[in-house]
Amino acid sequence: MVVAAAASQEILKPHLAIDGGHSLRGEIRVSGAKNSALVLMTAALLTEEPVELCNVPALTDIAGMCSILESLGMRVSRRDDRITLTADALNGTEPPYELVNSLRASFFSIGPLLGRLGHARVPLPGGCRIGARPVVEHIRGLKALGAVVDVRHGIVTASIPGRRNRLNGAQIVLDCPSVGATETILMAAVLADGVSTIENAAQEPEVQDLANLLNSMGAKISGAGGPLITIEGVAQLHGCRNYPVIPDRIEAGTFLMAAAITRSTLHVTPVIPEHLSAVLQKLRDCGCVLEVNGDGLTITPGDIQAVDITTQPFPGFPTDLQAPFMALMATAKGTSVISEKIYENRMQHVGELQRMGASIRLEGSTAIVEGVPFLGSAPVTGSDLRASAAMVLAGLSANGTTQVSGLKHLDRGYDNIEAKLTRCGARINRHNG
Ligand code: UD1
Repeated sequence: MVVAAAASQEILKPHLAIDGGHSLRGEIRVSGAKNSALVLMTAALLTEEPVELCNVPALTDIAGMCSILESLGMRVSRRDDRITLTADALNGTEPPYELVNSLRASFFSIGPLLGRLGHARVPLPGGCRIGARPVVEHIRGLKALGAVVDVRHGIVTASIPGRRNRLNGAQIVLDCPSVGATETILMAAVLADGVSTIENAAQEPEVQDLANLLNSMGAKISGAGGPLITIEGVAQLHGCRNYPVIPDRIEAGTFLMAAAITRSTLHVTPVIPEHLSAVLQKLRDCGCVLEVNGDGLTITPGDIQAVDITTQPFPGFPTDLQAPFMALMATAKGTSVISEKIYENRMQHVGELQRMGASIRLEGSTAIVEGVPFLGSAPVTGSDLRASAAMVLAGLSANGTTQVSGLKHLDRGYDNIEAKLTRCGARINRHNG
């Protein structure tokens, strides 16, 4: 009886029911990058003129960021994939804890708030299931620019001391190439007095996208995308129109792996191949043929062989695709070694894949995956955003109907994933519980 009740509770949770074993075909569209869009939205705090972004994905995280910015007095108007943000009457410098807690990128607003208004109070971002995610580097960078920063009772207060209203340019060397720290410091330094440099900067494409937007608003930034970024401070920034968010490389990688795990030929578009070099190389190594076709890539999987991966900062293999790649390797021929080097607790999908029949041994943050011919269906839960995507991929390839719960994570980062996959032949139904 108890088992039956537990099973029915499982089915009542919001979930995707994925009828596995069907090939995918045709073309699948990639939305704008979540991690770019979130930070570009906070950059609109730096000017009183409207900043118009297009190719913004429809995600719960984007809706969350709209609420956070509105709580500071930003006017936000949204139509289809277009968002216009106007910070001409900011009336707050402290985004509320309940909103910031669930959205780490909102902490990065401390940079532009400080740069524009000279003062910010931002709650520390909440705990995260995938591991500790400190903001030490962000704070060190702001202090180097001359801010007084105080962390008390979970709130970071930063201000420009004395009568000055601008930060000072500085040379900053990051201890680790943190994406968020690079973006926070970049946004604080654009309005500083003098020249700043960030050494050991994160080289992720989203950092480059932010620098491109800021330059189109009148900033003077060079070197973004490389390890040394130079920022010549300017007195003020202006607005900009129609700035397109780059395509989401993590979503694109997920779809390429969906094709590989279902052994299907699929056209994934738009993709900027240089943003996915390490991933494309691993897909080729495991037996996929990839062809550049217009703005996208066509993938034709062969007999999938096991290959090893180690996650690294860009341009290495991204941690955000480790879980989906493990789902693929669970069905490959041979044994692969998957090492997670960015987060200490990003292996929670292993247990769920095992429930579907995957053969995986975990040693700390390294998984040894012995490929099996077929995965079987089971009720599974995605414990974080990318783990949920891995469950969807496993479900697409499994025999039978897989129930994937944990949709609140999935909806944070994948714009209508089941509709996109269904259009390509997948059989997925959403049950809202
Ligand atoms: C961003 C991405 C996230 C991705 C991650 C790594 C956004 C909104 N999120 O997160 O999807 O998984 O990059 O590619 O863009 N670290 C420190 N000290 C610090 C800051 C970070 O030691 O002060 C460490 C972290 O513990 C982690 C590593 O640096 O091990 C990477 O973190 P970071 O690049 O800061 O990630 P986020 O910007 O939070």
